[in-house]
Amino acid sequence: MLAVSINSASPAEVGTALLVVALPENPTIAGIAGLDSATQGALTRSIEMKDFRGSRDEMLHLTGIPKGPRRILLIGMGAVTDRRASFRRAATLAARNAHRLGVGEMVWYSGQITPEETESITIGLIAGAWEYADLKSPVPEPERKRPLEKAVILTSNTDDSRGGLANGQAIGSGQSLARRLAMMPGNLCTPEYLAQTAADIAKRYSMGITVLGRKEMEVEMMGSFLAVAQGTPQDPKLIVLEYKGGKPNTKPVVLVGKGLCFDSGGISIKPAQGMEFMKFDMCGGAAVLGAFEALGQMNPLVNVVGIVGATTNMPSGTAMNPGDVVRAQNGKSIEIINTDAEGRLVLADCLSYAKRFDPDVVIDAATLTGACVIALGHTASGVFSSDDALIAEILAAGKRAGEPGWPLPMWDEYKELIKSDVADVKNSGGRPAGAVTAAMFLKEFAEGYPWAHLDIAGTAYSETDLVTIPKGPTGVPTGTFIEFIRGRVR
Ligand code: BES
Ligand code: MN
Ligand code: ZN
Repeated sequence: MLAVSINSASPAEVGTALLVVALPENPTIAGIAGLDSATQGALTRSIEMKDFRGSRDEMLHLTGIPKGPRRILLIGMGAVTDRRASFRRAATLAARNAHRLGVGEMVWYSGQITPEETESITIGLIAGAWEYADLKSPVPEPERKRPLEKAVILTSNTDDSRGGLANGQAIGSGQSLARRLAMMPGNLCTPEYLAQTAADIAKRYSMGITVLGRKEMEVEMMGSFLAVAQGTPQDPKLIVLEYKGGKPNTKPVVLVGKGLCFDSGGISIKPAQGMEFMKFDMCGGAAVLGAFEALGQMNPLVNVVGIVGATTNMPSGTAMNPGDVVRAQNGKSIEIINTDAEGRLVLADCLSYAKRFDPDVVIDAATLTGACVIALGHTASGVFSSDDALIAEILAAGKRAGEPGWPLPMWDEYKELIKSDVADVKNSGGRPAGAVTAAMFLKEFAEGYPWAHLDIAGTAYSETDLVTIPKGPTGVPTGTFIEFIRGRVR
C-alpha cells in the first residue's frame, strides 16, 4: 500500500519528482505565487491563457522545471461545496496519474487544510495508487515503470494533522484490503482464504475470532446457509470477528457481509456472459473484513462484531434444487424458488446468528440483487430499514465516506410477493421490486434488534474503467461502516 506522510515544507521549495496542486474553479495565482517563480511564470501564463480553468477532474501537467519540484500537476476541483469530498476525489485522481507516470513518489499541496481534510486526502491518495498486480508477471526492466510508493501531504506537522493522517491510513488500509480480496479470483479467494484473512486480522489486533464450518453449522441447524453450501465440496465458513474497544457491557454494532466467493447461480444457472464478475459476490464480506482492519488501527471506543457468510453457489448432483424447502436457524421454513437467490439464504442464518450478541444494531451489506442495479445504477447503494432514524444515520455515514446510499421502501405490502404455497416464505418474489423483496426476505430473519440492509450490487465494483476507480472493486461500503461506527462512539 502507498506510504503517506506529512511535511510542513513550502511547495516551491520541496524537491520532488511530482508536485500535485489541487485548485478550485477559476483559480487565482495568489496561493501558489512561490511556485510561479520556480516555473519562471509558466504557471501564471497557463492560467491567464485559460489552459487551466480548475474545472472538476481537469489536469495540467508542467514538466522540465529547473528547481524545486521537477514536475507540477494542477488538478481542478470545480465548484467546491464539500471540501473533504473534493480533496478526496482530486487526490485519488492525482495518485492514479502519478502511478501511471511511473515517478515513484509525489507531493500533495492544497493550501491550508484541516486534520479531517488530511484524512480525506490520505484516503484518496491510497485509493488512487491501489492496484492488484499480484498475478501479473513483472514487466521487463527497460519498460518497467516505478509504482507510486510514497506520497507526502504538505501541511503543518501537529498532533492533530498526524491524527488525521493516521485515520486516513487506517481507512485506506481497510479499503485496500477489501478491494484486494474482491479482485482475487474465486480459485484463490475461497471461503477458507477469507477465514484465514480474518484470523490474521484477529491475531494482529488481538480480536476474538470464531469460524464455523459445515459441521458446526449443522449443529447450529443453519439449514438455509447449508442449502447453498451443499452444492460445493469447499467447506463453507461462517466467520465471526469481535472487536472490543468499548466497555464490556455495551451492546455491539454488528456488521454482516455476504461472502459468495463465486456465484454461478447454482441449478438456476446464470448466463455465461459476464459470469466472471460473480467473483465479486463476496464484496459485502470483504468490506466487513476491511472495516475490521481499519478498526484494528484506529481503536475506537466501541464494541463491534463482524460476521461473514462465505461459500460458493454451484450446480452439482448435491446442489439444492428449485422447489426444495429448508429450515433456517430461527425455525422458519423457506421454499427455494430460484437457487440464484442464494445470498439471502446465506444471510438469513447469519442474521439469526447475530442475535446472540445482543446487538445495538445490525447492518448487513450484500451484492444482493441485479434489481438494485436497475433501480439506482452504480451511483448509490440501496439502503433498507424499518427504522427511519437508522436510515438517516447510514445515509449520513455514506455521505461522509463518499459512498452514497439511497433509501428504498420496506412496506408490508411487499411481503405478499414472497408468500409461499408450502413454506413460511419463498426466496424469490420474481422481477417486480426485486431489491425490495430481497430485503423483505432478510427481514424475516433479522429479529430482535434494530437492523438495516445495504444492497451494494451496483456500487461494490465497476465493470468499466471510471475516472477515479479502475475497472474492478471500489471497497464500498468499508468507509460507510467506519463512519457509522465512529458516529456510535460515545
Ligand atoms: N449476486 C447476485 C446479484 C448480483 C447481480 C450482483 C448483478 C451484482 C450484479 C445474486 O445472488 C442474484 O443472483 N440475484 C438474483 C435474484 C433473483 C434470482 C431473485 C438477481 O438479481 O437476478
Ligand atoms: Mn445469485
Ligand atoms: Zn449472489
